[in-house]
Amino acid sequence: MLPTSDAMLKVAIVGATGVVGQEFIVALDRHPWFSVEAIAASERSAGKRYIDALRDSATGIMKWHQHRPVPEYARDMVVKSVGEIDARDYDLIFTAVETDDARVIEPRLAQHTPVISTAAAFRYEQDVPILIPGINDDHAELLNVQRERRQWQGFIAPLPNCTTTGLAITLKPIMDAFGIERVIMTSLQAVSGAGRSPGVAALDIFDNIIPFIPKEEEKVQVEAKKILGRFTDGRIDDARFRVSCTCTRVPVIDGHTESAFVETSRECEPEDVKQAMLRYSRGVSVRGLPSAPEEYIIVHDDPSRPQPRLDRDTNDGMSTVVGRIRKDTAFERGVKYVLLSHNEKMGSAKGAVLLAEMLKTRELL
Ligand SMILES: NC(=O)c1ccc[n+]([C@@H]2O[C@H](COP(=O)([O-])OP(=O)(O)OC[C@H]3O[C@@H](n4cnc5c(N)ncnc54)[C@H](OP(=O)(O)O)[C@@H]3O)[C@@H](O)[C@H]2O)c1
Repeated sequence: MLPTSDAMLKVAIVGATGVVGQEFIVALDRHPWFSVEAIAASERSAGKRYIDALRDSATGIMKWHQHRPVPEYARDMVVKSVGEIDARDYDLIFTAVETDDARVIEPRLAQHTPVISTAAAFRYEQDVPILIPGINDDHAELLNVQRERRQWQGFIAPLPNCTTTGLAITLKPIMDAFGIERVIMTSLQAVSGAGRSPGVAALDIFDNIIPFIPKEEEKVQVEAKKILGRFTDGRIDDARFRVSCTCTRVPVIDGHTESAFVETSRECEPEDVKQAMLRYSRGVSVRGLPSAPEEYIIVHDDPSRPQPRLDRDTNDGMSTVVGRIRKDTAFERGVKYVLLSHNEKMGSAKGAVLLAEMLKTRELL
């Protein structure tokens, strides 16, 4: 493993009080390579101790979304405003803010320091890769192109939308082994994926399914093809297959479930696809990194899995869990399956920390 404790990288978290920011706080607790030196949020929180910024001053209610208590290291840290963050003081900055805020905040920080972002603001720009550690690590080279083109010392490295993550992770072994022509996917997404502001109102989601998540389907359709595209001559050529999806919100707290239909280029049986996924999982590039799961992809034979309540926390939410792989009956060749990916772990903060670890091993940090 790379750095030792005397070579800890100094990191800042922007958006530390939000749903994803809290996951960063937890994912970086006692991290062997990264030390959290600053946390920032909106003006509403700036100047308060972290523990106080999480508390609604009128009601005393704590907006702490995690299963474990606020880590000791973060409780008394004073939250800064973004304006108070001098990027030159840090080796790496994680950002977890809404896209409109990210559009303004991230380039200012990236001029000096690498930024790993959970927001969509820069995902679709030509010199910006959308990275999933273990899936398209070679695209990270585009960060050097970005640096040079923008004359930045840092860069912006965004993760995908959390709904794309599990889909792309399961498509990659299929694409490598059998080729892909078409993908049709319907998601059943957790409420935590909407964040806290504006979030999803309890009155809307209890006893209900909401069949529309603004901009989500477009994001998945574009991002999956970019992530699984080919990096050559300093650019990414999108994968050629077509993607169509329907994204819905369901009354589940954490963990996005997705039903995928994949038309392959070459014949394959469900067992072949299962073996391709397990083979990929065993040989995945990020194996052994501090935040990497023991099993990158898990495939269940039990037809009642994956289920969010049972499977989302496997390997601390870093495994993509697959089940119900079976022959598709509408496509000429292909399979259908169900996957589950933890939207706040592999799908955002802890996935971003794993990305940082991967970039470190490639000497991009
Ligand atoms: N939730 C998920 O599962 C998920 C998954 C993947 C990606 N994402 C993406 O991650 C980002 C954050 O999502 P979230 O769910 O964590 O949102 P959230 O719960 O609404 O949190 C937003 C955070 O941004 C801070 N903030 C707001 N305006 C700011 C400003 N002008 N300057 C600095 N900080 C500001 C907030 O601080 P205050 O507390 O002070 O208001 C809070 O810390 C979004 O782009 C989202 O699309 C979310």
